[in-house]
Amino acid sequence: TWTTEAFVEEAIREVKAKVGEKRVLLALSGGVDSSTLAFLLHRAIGDQLTCMFIDQGFMRKYEPERLVQLFRDEFAIPVHYVNARDRFIERIAGVTDPEEKRKRIGHEFIRVFEEESRRLGPFDYLAQGTLYPDVIESADTNVDPKTGERVAVKIKSHHNVGGLPKDLQFKLVEPLRKLFKDEVRKVGRSIGLPEEIVRRHPFPGPGLAIRIIGEVTAERLNILRDADFVVRDEIQKQGMYHDFWQAFAVLLPIRSVGVMGDQRTYAHPVVLRLIASEDGMTADWSRVPYDLLETISNRMVNEVKGVNRVVYDITSKPPGTIEWE
Ligand code: XMP
Repeated sequence: TWTTEAFVEEAIREVKAKVGEKRVLLALSGGVDSSTLAFLLHRAIGDQLTCMFIDQGFMRKYEPERLVQLFRDEFAIPVHYVNARDRFIERIAGVTDPEEKRKRIGHEFIRVFEEESRRLGPFDYLAQGTLYPDVIESADTNVDPKTGERVAVKIKSHHNVGGLPKDLQFKLVEPLRKLFKDEVRKVGRSIGLPEEIVRRHPFPGPGLAIRIIGEVTAERLNILRDADFVVRDEIQKQGMYHDFWQAFAVLLPIRSVGVMGDQRTYAHPVVLRLIASEDGMTADWSRVPYDLLETISNRMVNEVKGVNRVVYDITSKPPGTIEWE
């Protein structure tokens, strides 16, 4: 029978045998896959592992800081933090088309990854949190015909774009490749990852950028980041975080009239999206108590400058998608 202990032991042995004295690069995202991977590899090869975290500026409030702090201070795994916020927002300035936004963010990610890996390298191996379903999907496209070994032609950065340049192709270390998601969670837990990572809601690679409809500006990012924080903070306070597949806010590029005190306001509406789902393929809007909606709405309008109205998205998937872009 499969046990996490046996898996971890075997994976550590395998990684050691494969990597030897060589150096391994890992791009940390803060999700359960890359975090579990970091833990496992750190145990196996210690400081031959370099963890890199690229902050594109579209993560949730406090998450980049928290991630780096968690790894450095609590797990004693050094993380190379790359602040790329300015270049990402510049790269998508003026872009309103959702696909174009995604594409540019994905390409910029590859560019930063490339620069940083050259600067910190050279590395022989790239560690990826490839899971069993990913292996099946990319069957033999990533195999070196000479050695039969899987090589990285892309990086799994949940951006789904961006080939690596020819001279920067790593051999892969993929110790999670036989696991399904729920098994990764078990392994992560067994080696000491906190629940906040193990059961973290899915979060798209392009992050908050695809939850700002229309142009992404620094100002809009701040508004959405704060609005999004209210959603997470409130459902956590009410012990409801795990009732949802995802829970987030979307910022609309329009304004509507409101009144606060005796002042007329003219500000942005925010869409509240609370999702129930098993796998993200189909999804339902959550039938939550009106009180929760009211509390979130009140907090949003009171605490987030630039927001004066909250609407609840009651569209399931299909026909809607979970994200708005
Ligand atoms: P949709 O909006 O297609 O989303 O119903 C389904 C699930 O996928 C997530 N999602 C993404 N994840 N990169 C990602 O890593 C992306 O570009 C992306 N777009 C959507 C979404 O959050 C939901 O969980």
